[in-house]
Amino acid sequence: MSTLKVHHIGYLVKKLDAAIRSFENLGYRITEPTVYDDIRKVNICFLEKDGYTIELVSPVSEDSVVSGLMKKYKNSPYHICYETEDFEHDYQELTSNGFIAIDAPTPAPALQNREVVFLTNASMGMIELIRP
Ligand code: NI
Repeated sequence: MSTLKVHHIGYLVKKLDAAIRSFENLGYRITEPTVYDDIRKVNICFLEKDGYTIELVSPVSEDSVVSGLMKKYKNSPYHICYETEDFEHDYQELTSNGFIAIDAPTPAPALQNREVVFLTNASMGMIELIRP
């Protein structure tokens, strides 16, 4: 797992525009303006501060992939995304070590259609793996 590098922290927000303003007030700046992810039915915006990248994820409809999480967590960070040099290897290793994939690797429109997959682990919750 030595090739994993933190790529971003995913943050659930109910009202995207209001959340962007609040993050900007704290000194974050937008690095990737809002993109609609039609696969997951969410709006996504990337911001950066002090070298940290935050992904704001906001459900657009009731059947979005995060609508259930939104009810449970409200506005809250909910995953850390890791970039991997060797996607197949690390994916295999994670699934052999207690991580369960919750979807198949799927292109992410907000990340230049790079493939991502979400996995959960009973002791640490959800992570995201992204292809270089
Ligand atoms: Ni993410």
